[in-house]
Amino acid sequence: MEPTNNDVIAIALPKGRLLTPILELFEGIGFPCVKVFSDSRRLIYEDRDRQLRFLILRPADIPTYVERGAADMGIAGKDQLLEQRRDVYEPLDLRFGACRLVVAEPAELHKQDDPHSWSNLRVATKYPNLAEAYFSRKGIQAEIIKLTGSLELAPLVGLAERIIDLVETGQTLKENGLVEVEEIVKSTARLIVNRASLKTKYRRVQDLVEKMRAQVEAHTAGARA
Ligand code: PRP
Repeated sequence: MEPTNNDVIAIALPKGRLLTPILELFEGIGFPCVKVFSDSRRLIYEDRDRQLRFLILRPADIPTYVERGAADMGIAGKDQLLEQRRDVYEPLDLRFGACRLVVAEPAELHKQDDPHSWSNLRVATKYPNLAEAYFSRKGIQAEIIKLTGSLELAPLVGLAERIIDLVETGQTLKENGLVEVEEIVKSTARLIVNRASLKTKYRRVQDLVEKMRAQVEAHTAGARA
């Protein structure tokens, strides 16, 4: 599919915990308008003066919108990009939204568990492709049960013995009596761009990428000081 066919740049933003740092990022590059999303149920917002269109989506859907050109750009977690392997350009690590994809299991099981002797596992996850790849690399047979949220519940009710899920603060694992066993991959938020938009809207896309890059650098330098 061709990207949006005019001078407007459509940017797909994820609902949820990444939205706060994203609003700060856009405020930092001079687009405080994006803030209206935080207290609205609207899913699309046009900034006619700047010729921008913002779309608010579930995080896992952003790579699809960008790959198919329904959005020119978007912000997605590296976890989703690795899971979905969409054909998008990824020009910038935004360095926020840091989290890790891990294998976790109940603390009770962990006491007598040895990952080196794993076989015939039942594992619940939102990341079936990464889970399959991880176990196949290790030569471990695993039944992968695909879920879409509240992963930590699965071992508590016997749906699976283990989960593969994102950990940010570790609070959700802790409150559900689970412990981390192995880390699979680290993730941060990434800026992604539709490959056709990069060519047809090169100047505008590149301008936005460079503004965001400068903002990320300034923020990182500020955090170090
Ligand atoms: C994510 C993730 C964990 C939790 C980890 O879920 O799947 O459940 O956050 O965060 P923590 O380490 O800071 O506790 P999310 O909040 O996106 O909701 P979901 O369970 O509906 O996917």
